[in-house]
Amino acid sequence: MVILAAGSSGQSIGGRWAVSSSSLDNGEQLRWILTLTQSGNNLKGNIDDLGFSVDVFGTMQGNHFELFGPGANRPWIAGEVSNKELHGTRWGRAFVGIPATPSDELPKYDYIEPPAIHSVASNGLAKTPPMGWNSWNLFAGKVDDATVRTIAEAMVWSGMRDAGYVYVNIDDTWEGVRDAQGNLQSNHKFPDMKALADYVHSKGLKIGIYSSPGPRTCAGYPASYGHEAQDAKTFAAWGIDYLKYDWCSAGKIYKDDNLRSVYQKMGDALRATGRPIVYSLSLVNAEVSRWGKEVGANLWRTAPDIHDAWDSMISNIETQVPTASFAGPGHWNDPDMLEIGNGHMSDEEYRTHMSLWALSAAPLLAGNDLRVMTPATKAILMNREVIDIDQDPLGWQAIPARRGELETWIKPLADGSVAVGVVNLASNPAHAIVSAADLHLRGPIRTARDLWAHKDVQFTEGQYSKTLQPHATMLLRVKGD
Ligand code: GLA
Repeated sequence: MVILAAGSSGQSIGGRWAVSSSSLDNGEQLRWILTLTQSGNNLKGNIDDLGFSVDVFGTMQGNHFELFGPGANRPWIAGEVSNKELHGTRWGRAFVGIPATPSDELPKYDYIEPPAIHSVASNGLAKTPPMGWNSWNLFAGKVDDATVRTIAEAMVWSGMRDAGYVYVNIDDTWEGVRDAQGNLQSNHKFPDMKALADYVHSKGLKIGIYSSPGPRTCAGYPASYGHEAQDAKTFAAWGIDYLKYDWCSAGKIYKDDNLRSVYQKMGDALRATGRPIVYSLSLVNAEVSRWGKEVGANLWRTAPDIHDAWDSMISNIETQVPTASFAGPGHWNDPDMLEIGNGHMSDEEYRTHMSLWALSAAPLLAGNDLRVMTPATKAILMNREVIDIDQDPLGWQAIPARRGELETWIKPLADGSVAVGVVNLASNPAHAIVSAADLHLRGPIRTARDLWAHKDVQFTEGQYSKTLQPHATMLLRVKGD
């Protein structure tokens, strides 16, 4: 039964809706339940689909509605209600909703008891933060074989590979359906995953893929629940070198208490294949930094999905500050992929993005179109002196030593020098000062280099200062003794 609450704007949308979207790339139809309550023009509710269950909020104007997910600055869903039907788009995919009946339910899955906890031995990979590219930030559901091949080619001819970017990572929406033996196949966008992996390897690169411990990925595609060992073997047979494993629909089956043992299951399965595969956990949970290494993972997400916007970027890097002590060679905190070059921040802001990721020993996974980079984007992503800060073998994750509108981040490096970044978080120019005393060097300053200006600079009476434009960062490498 649908209870329709009348809104002040005429049309009403409160109730439970059974929604069908156009087909996924594997031919399956995406079905979901939208539950809404309406109070005047304000909407609150929940989307329950195969991939996950998430609270949404939004507005109703006349018969037009818009719904936002957590942290979203653009509507996830927009559409019209008329004659007790919803017509709209969700993340660009068209849908139709009709009032749900009690029999409109999503499939139920048998509960599989998670294993007892133990420590998975390290795979010895990712001694420095992984570097590469991931399809999600720019291509999302539009990634395919041709895109991956041409990105791999661009990774070589643009110089990205030689600057250290080696992983070409396919995110969600590559999945097909399982065959009669339960083997997960790729969909029509990826006709031959093994051939694609061979091609990427032939360029001197490595290839990554994506799945979830739940029955479905976040985009609703089949995932590894109950097929962990089988999928790990499939990935290894294809020649996969990196797995991003995203919580998504596992949250509909397991509680947060089970996170560690559920992630351990795939950690064990990957080790059992005998193939070196970097293991990346994608989830937002405050405790993951404490146990990520124990499930055999090389990196784990510490923050929600990044957007190509200053506030999102700063918020993600700040969110992982408390986890700093858990980062080190082989196991890294991951504030999410890079947005550099995607066009919605200024180059100054992208330099800050790169500086903060490098200071934080974060994975450097470009999220832009490597085939069409501006000179400025190339100069930012391929600044070798900044990459060296990220890839420093000591593996120290910087934290802010001074807070305020001018924030100072300090990262000790393996050769005894120190990287120091001063970020102007304000919207006015500001005078940044670095004091030698804050750097705790072993001896007096010998050299200091501005890593964005690419020139040596002088400290005078124990200080170096520079005027910073709004949202700009000064990044120095200072050596004492
Ligand atoms: C989640 C992850 C993203 C991306 C999408 C794919 O939102 O956090 O990075 O992998 O799923 O559906």
